[in-house]
Amino acid sequence: MTESVKLFEPLPLRGTTLPNRIVVSPLCQYSAVDGFAQPWHFAHLSTFARGKAGLVFTEATAVEARGRITHACLGIWNDAQADALRPIVEFIESMGSVPGMQLAHAGRKASTHAPFSPGGPTPLRDADRDAGEPPWQAVAPSPLPVADGWHLPAELDAAGLDEIRDAFVAAARRAVDVGFRVLELHMAHGYLLHSFLSPLGNERTDAWGGDLDGRMRFPLEVAAAVRAAIPDDMPLFARISAIDGREGGWTLDDSVAFARRLAEAGVDVVDCSSGGIGGAPRFRADDTGKPLTRDSARAPGFQVPFARRLREDAGIKSMAVGVIIDPQQAEDILQGGGADLVALGREVMYDPFWPLHAAEALGVDPEFEMWPAQYAWAVDRRAQIQLLNRLD
Ligand SMILES: Cc1cc2nc3c(=O)[nH]c(=O)nc-3n(C[C@H](O)[C@H](O)[C@H](O)COP(=O)(O)O)c2cc1C
Repeated sequence: MTESVKLFEPLPLRGTTLPNRIVVSPLCQYSAVDGFAQPWHFAHLSTFARGKAGLVFTEATAVEARGRITHACLGIWNDAQADALRPIVEFIESMGSVPGMQLAHAGRKASTHAPFSPGGPTPLRDADRDAGEPPWQAVAPSPLPVADGWHLPAELDAAGLDEIRDAFVAAARRAVDVGFRVLELHMAHGYLLHSFLSPLGNERTDAWGGDLDGRMRFPLEVAAAVRAAIPDDMPLFARISAIDGREGGWTLDDSVAFARRLAEAGVDVVDCSSGGIGGAPRFRADDTGKPLTRDSARAPGFQVPFARRLREDAGIKSMAVGVIIDPQQAEDILQGGGADLVALGREVMYDPFWPLHAAEALGVDPEFEMWPAQYAWAVDRRAQIQLLNRLD
């Protein structure tokens, strides 16, 4: 193995060492039944472990039933749901990858259809009861709908906040018991914890709103409570939307302040996404206030500037995500100090063996030794046959 290739350098985090820097980003599958993992989840997540990603995250997993986006989201609000995940965890471990869980609460973005349903990801209506998909009451820091025509969420009171914080803690304990070795708190994309942070989601005038300190309070309470409930040697990540990209919204400077506080609360890695408070960001990733164009929203690595800034200015490790496609691009991000880890979403759905293909492309695994033993010998022969055919 070539030592100088950073993508395949292990990363020690507390008591866990990730075998490489490639992370499978959380990817909702909208395929659970009553929050329970199905054979699809096993097939989906185990494939990435066969592909040798260093860390494989579950999709956003709801800490309470109200916190699902759709009826078909994964949940871990009871022990039976956690048990259903055990075979997945064990398989990921058996491949040498690290199983991670993203813990989530959808907040005001709850109670919708899946994105691939015929009408798209629209709010559930009373008429959906007939199809077995009744809408439910969404909750949020303030009674503000995501957009016109979306659910009016109920404002959480102090007791409601305690209940949700405790649900995160109970879910985290279940995830630990079942064998997950990394947890990530979902504080991005307009879901509950993000909507506390952003002035566009939080108009409270009590202790959990107002200035930056007030808006950060509940997400930090959740982070501290989860940290205290899980083993000291277990890494904890937080995914944030580094910018809202909207007038009057959350900024990159706010993210630096927040990431410092997350680090103090015992969070080890900040996972740097963006947007979602009320739609896609409208400003450029560098937060200069310049309008976002179609191109700049889809440019390779468009969110890397966030990961770099937080890494440099907040004293915390960072993970970059978003249109990371090419192995050399991923390597350059790490080599250039843009992030400590890279997460891939759509690209690993397209090619679940991306890490193995990247190892080949970067010259780290010329003889396919990283491949699962069941495949390695045959894939090596395939390469020899290809070579012979080229010589003929
Ligand atoms: C099908 C799908 C499901 C997703 N589900 C989640 C999720 O559960 N939690 C989350 O934080 N982000 C989720 N995302 C965002 C991805 O994790 C990732 O941040 C985003 O797709 C950008 O990375 P990419 O360009 O490599 O796809 C999802 C994205 C897709 C395409």
